[in-house]
Amino acid sequence: MQRTENYMVMEFLSRSSNESFARTAVATFAAQLDPTLDEIGDIKTAVSEAVTNSIVHGYPNTLGKIVVKVRILEKNTLEISVRDWGCGIENIDKAREPMFTTGGEERSGMGFTIMESFTDRMRVKSSVGRGTTVVMQKRIAPRMR
Ligand SMILES: Nc1ncnc2c1ncn2[C@@H]1O[C@H](COP(=O)(O)OP(=O)(O)O)[C@@H](O)[C@H]1O
Ligand SMILES: [Mg+2]
Repeated sequence: MQRTENYMVMEFLSRSSNESFARTAVATFAAQLDPTLDEIGDIKTAVSEAVTNSIVHGYPNTLGKIVVKVRILEKNTLEISVRDWGCGIENIDKAREPMFTTGGEERSGMGFTIMESFTDRMRVKSSVGRGTTVVMQKRIAPRMR
């Protein structure tokens, strides 16, 4: 277990307008690690993909609760978890495959692949009817000033 040096938690309704709020809030909190613009971009993109999934897939026909928790761990590591209590994922391995989508035409099926490639580690926990949690870790390289 890595020690938690700082954290923040936020809860919001699965309205699509909250997606930009969530990614901006996480990036603002992460700013204390002095990330590069590239790293901020990666964080925002990963958060955006996870939150969008909760909004569109977790709660397709309802509004529900989304909780985003961000922890700062030892060694400049940022851990972001995005949780919903929505419909859950039947087959997580399949869902993580590039280009797999249940979303039809307008979805690329690349969300998990993007989250994985823009962070150092991604775990998905899910159970049908109970919801989904995505946990991502990203190390922010310390910089000389
Ligand atoms: N929070 C979630 N709740 C329920 N299903 C999800 C969730 N996140 C992802 N999924 C499932 O995993 C699939 C793949 O997700 P993703 O890689 O982001 O692609 P896309 O969102 O374009 O479909 C989704 O189509 C959906 O079936
Ligand atoms: Mg997606």
